[in-house]
Amino acid sequence: MSTRRMHGSAASPVDAGPTEPIVEFAEVTPYEQYVGVRQLQALVRPVTDHPAEPSFLVVTQIMELWFTLLRREWELAQRRLRADDLDGAVAAIRRSVHHLRSLNASWGSLLWLTPTEFNGFREQLGEASGFQSYEYRHVEFLLGLKAESVVRPHRALPAVHADLQRALEGPSLEDDVLAFLARHGLAVPAEVLERDRTVPHEAHPAVTELWAGIYRDPRPGNELFALGEALTDVAEEFTTWRQRHVTAVRRAMGAKPGTGGSAGLAWLERSAARVVFPDLWAARTVL
Ligand code: HEM
Repeated sequence: MSTRRMHGSAASPVDAGPTEPIVEFAEVTPYEQYVGVRQLQALVRPVTDHPAEPSFLVVTQIMELWFTLLRREWELAQRRLRADDLDGAVAAIRRSVHHLRSLNASWGSLLWLTPTEFNGFREQLGEASGFQSYEYRHVEFLLGLKAESVVRPHRALPAVHADLQRALEGPSLEDDVLAFLARHGLAVPAEVLERDRTVPHEAHPAVTELWAGIYRDPRPGNELFALGEALTDVAEEFTTWRQRHVTAVRRAMGAKPGTGGSAGLAWLERSAARVVFPDLWAARTVL
């Protein structure tokens, strides 16, 4: 991070050890300028004095940052695919798999949350719910889990709403992958390339067979095989996030209704069962 790593000649002649870090700054440290720790801390605003609430809030905020990072990686992957740069796209997707694993590890910070502790601040959350996370919706939309109904809660934030509406109507990561494959001579049916992008992806026999064909040749250097595996890692890790969320909910509040108005656990289980990249999973059946 530092552009000037070594400093001064204050060390005594006998001290031949490493040069010491810089400790004098005319203004706030360059680290503070870059990271904005004070701004981050100012955003941690619990609504109760309950000792369990700060970790619930901070873990939620950290997960929001991971969602934003995932979105950046996948939007970058889309741009690389459109530029026919497969290596660049796979690199971004592979990075995102590491982000997803770190995101999933964050659930560990909430494992201690008992129903009694959650009840200590749950009332004060009012109708606030992760259901209203628009960054999470971007992540879902990029993975092809589209739904018009989840855009609606954000009408009061016009820029956010417009951005999400664009993502609903626009290509998912898989749409860009399929367009790339079609441009490179693979038989992607026109009805798939031109499908209604506002509804969830479903497996299509021709696309399933196309992935099966790619998987029949798993030699090193088969870049499309590497792409398929990177996407499968994404699908698996994202599914893990949803499953761990369901388990965290079961552990912290059982089958009570959610603050966001849903039936809670039963509703979440149904939502978590939606399949990411269905053709990549269906290909395993035909192989
Ligand atoms: C253990 C603590 C948690 C509990 C008890 C909990 C509870 C719930 C419930 C009941 C719902 C369903 C909607 C509703 O009626 O409110 C929900 C949805 C959701 N929550 Fe959580 N949640 C927890 C932690 C988190 C965290 C840390 C995040 C991170 C941002 C999060 C993100 C979400 C998202 C994105 C949804 C929408 C899921 C979907 O549409 O399938 N939740 N949560």
